[in-house]
Amino acid sequence: MTLPLSEARPPYPFSEADFGKTYLEPSYRVDLREPANENLDVFFNANQVSDWSQLTWKEAGKPYEVKTMSKHRKSYEKENGEMSVKTSWEDFNRSFHEWFIKDMPDEMSKSKGEMLRHFSRFRLKDVKEALGETVRLSLWNYVHRIEDGTWDPRGKRALFQGLDVSKPRILFLGAAEGYEAMQLHAMYPGGEVVLCDYDEFCKTDRFGHFPESYPFLGFNSATGQPRVWYKDQMNIHYVVDDIRNLSFGREFDIVISVGLLEHFPDNYKEEVMDWHRKFLKPGGYAILTTPRHQLKSRLFYMIMADVMNHTYRELMDIKQMGLYVYENGFDILRHGFIKVHNGIIARPR
Ligand SMILES: C[S@@+](CC[C@H](N)C(=O)[O-])C[C@H]1O[C@@H](n2cnc3c(N)ncnc32)[C@H](O)[C@@H]1O
Repeated sequence: MTLPLSEARPPYPFSEADFGKTYLEPSYRVDLREPANENLDVFFNANQVSDWSQLTWKEAGKPYEVKTMSKHRKSYEKENGEMSVKTSWEDFNRSFHEWFIKDMPDEMSKSKGEMLRHFSRFRLKDVKEALGETVRLSLWNYVHRIEDGTWDPRGKRALFQGLDVSKPRILFLGAAEGYEAMQLHAMYPGGEVVLCDYDEFCKTDRFGHFPESYPFLGFNSATGQPRVWYKDQMNIHYVVDDIRNLSFGREFDIVISVGLLEHFPDNYKEEVMDWHRKFLKPGGYAILTTPRHQLKSRLFYMIMADVMNHTYRELMDIKQMGLYVYENGFDILRHGFIKVHNGIIARPR
């Protein structure tokens, strides 16, 4: 007898027995290597700058702005005038989410089949379109599924390691699916995660449909040993609101954002950095990551423009990112880069 899928697959398919292993699922990689976080530092190259007060914008230069916008945004603006920032995020989230849930081997083989079919009928316009889709699928398969560059659990664990917190309350600004706060909560369990995003779809779909069977490598406070955590085992609350409306006081041990700062032109950077300060307890940590400025990232945003480029976006290096953080009143405790992002751990001065 064949069991329905929900009964055939246990809700928590990975355990300590899988430590040291990595598996390729159809949409993402499962990575349970290095459960004790001992040899993760290869992913995190820190300490390029020893005294941030000595670094100037003249030396660091300004970030690179990604100017190619998605077809969708361009056609929307032709008809309706300038798109609001919130609408551009709503479009981005729906478009990006589609890619996280694709069955990659299946989609890639379908798209190659399509291309060959158009080719055999000499439909050149369709061949071109199918070729574009095949390239995007292959790129996403490599960046997200094979390399695990977007979630990058090993890099994130290296960045988050060694924080002086116990049962922390964690606030995630612009949380989308909430991945990084779940990784933090797994490493530092027993507290609470508050995810904040003003796009309702992030709560219902990006977080709501984040795979329940995805294993986060973390810590078991009862045994002092590594353990596997799942989304449903965590204490998570989702607030759908503009960050500007949050009424929390200085009550969080950690305030984190991932890919937020680079979406604001310079006039707004001070306000964004202030969001990372105003909800922190004294001694709390602000954690920020932004996409790295490197040739392969520029190519990625060019090839994936229709999927990714709905909003204002900059690519910056760690010095530029660090200067924004430092000159807006934070001391930088740790800085460096993981696979595709820069990462900084800071504290208000
Ligand atoms: C680039 S995403 C973060 C990257 C994320 N890790 C991802 O995979 O998409 C930034 C998120 O911040 C949210 N956001 C931007 N401005 C916001 C604001 N003022 N208040 C609340 N959420 C905001 C957007 O809706 C979006 O989901």
